[in-house]
Amino acid sequence: MPSPPDAIEWNAASWRQYPAAQQPEWPEAEALKRAEARLSTVPPLVFAGEARHLTSQLADVANGRAFLLQAGDCAESFADFSADSIRDKLKIILQMAVALTYAAGVPVVKVGRIAGQFAKPRSSGTEQIGDVELPSFRGHMVNDEAFEPEARRPDPERMVAAYQQSASTLNLLRAFTKGGFADLSQVHLWNQQFVASSAEGQRYERIASEIDRALRFMAACGFDLGAEEELHHVDFWISHEALILPYEECLTRMDSLTGDWYDCSAHMVWIGDRTRQLDGAHVEFASGIRNPVGCKVGPTCSPSEVVALCERINPDRLAGRLTLITRFGADKIDDLLPPILRAVEAEGHPVVWTCDPMHGNTFTSDGGRKTRRFDDILSELRSFFNVHRDVGTWPGGVHVELTGDDVTECLGGAEEIFEGDLDARYTTTCDPRLNARQSLDLAFRVAEFLRS
Ligand code: PEP
Ligand code: CO
Repeated sequence: MPSPPDAIEWNAASWRQYPAAQQPEWPEAEALKRAEARLSTVPPLVFAGEARHLTSQLADVANGRAFLLQAGDCAESFADFSADSIRDKLKIILQMAVALTYAAGVPVVKVGRIAGQFAKPRSSGTEQIGDVELPSFRGHMVNDEAFEPEARRPDPERMVAAYQQSASTLNLLRAFTKGGFADLSQVHLWNQQFVASSAEGQRYERIASEIDRALRFMAACGFDLGAEEELHHVDFWISHEALILPYEECLTRMDSLTGDWYDCSAHMVWIGDRTRQLDGAHVEFASGIRNPVGCKVGPTCSPSEVVALCERINPDRLAGRLTLITRFGADKIDDLLPPILRAVEAEGHPVVWTCDPMHGNTFTSDGGRKTRRFDDILSELRSFFNVHRDVGTWPGGVHVELTGDDVTECLGGAEEIFEGDLDARYTTTCDPRLNARQSLDLAFRVAEFLRS
């Protein structure tokens, strides 16, 4: 790989001049070209103006006036694709947002890991079982998880399929969030039956009833609630890890209003902890698009590297442009987060600070299941709020992997999932997710951290 050229001007393909980590080895160059040609002509999924609107909401988060809830699957699946599963994911995120807004009194910016979250970085390029070694599963945008040669073969047509599934998913999300389902008068409806019967579900019901009462009170006072847009629609944004760069490049389009370039595959995209090299292709790509961009910050990232990432991705210091998603693990955050906060503060960079309490707390159970303990997740979050309070920075949000379903993938929580329960309903395509009850419980705890 040649060393990164100095004088390269950014364009949607300039990342190709830099080393790109975590890219599949596409077996057929011609097939890749065909998929790229197709993706270069498809309509954008989102518009530049929407991305700018999200940037302005995230600026409120950076300035301590709002809170970011970013949540969804670890990896979306081509197999689990239905109106019900999209609706149930939206339900739990809306419920969490209500819990946070009501209990902590701050506006919540809602961003899904959805409608495009189809690609996964892997710690090893291959997986071995017995004497058989195959390419690792990299998400349905690339290959399939079945341990068979044909399934694991990267197929660029999957990028086109990922685009199409993203388009249908986003279409339904737009219908749900703008067409009445997300109306505040529907707040009871978001509580699924298996959640409503639990303690956290009942706590939610009480808030929902108070919201109902408040709405009736305002109507009785003569307010025309029908005319209040904010009560009937929600802004719900989509995001994913910008990992497979040919896909992102092909969906990057110039905004005719401003002449700026936007990655129209999502409102927001992020760079993963394995692809945040300063002289790497992912950072190059992200530096030139005008969307709000996230960057994961894990235990191997030094304070000076974080500052350099801020300079590289957000040289104009636009609030809302950059979200730093810290993910150290419950046992490391107390040591690693404070120097990073101080270094970025000292340089005066405006960032959204958010906590991913999932990816630093994964381990393999005795039964061979990848899992996470609810208590570790909570402990990293508690530390996140404490450290920010000590340093004087705003703990701007949480980034979690969840599902609306009643899965058994993460241990603990109020319903006490034990290691022996993991096999019961373990359906994730990649990492273990919080189920709907654990997610709602988490939202109430985070609201308490925020309030204190
Ligand atoms: C993820 O968010 O799914 C992920 C792979 O995270 P990280 O890059 O922080 O490991
Ligand atoms: Co994950």
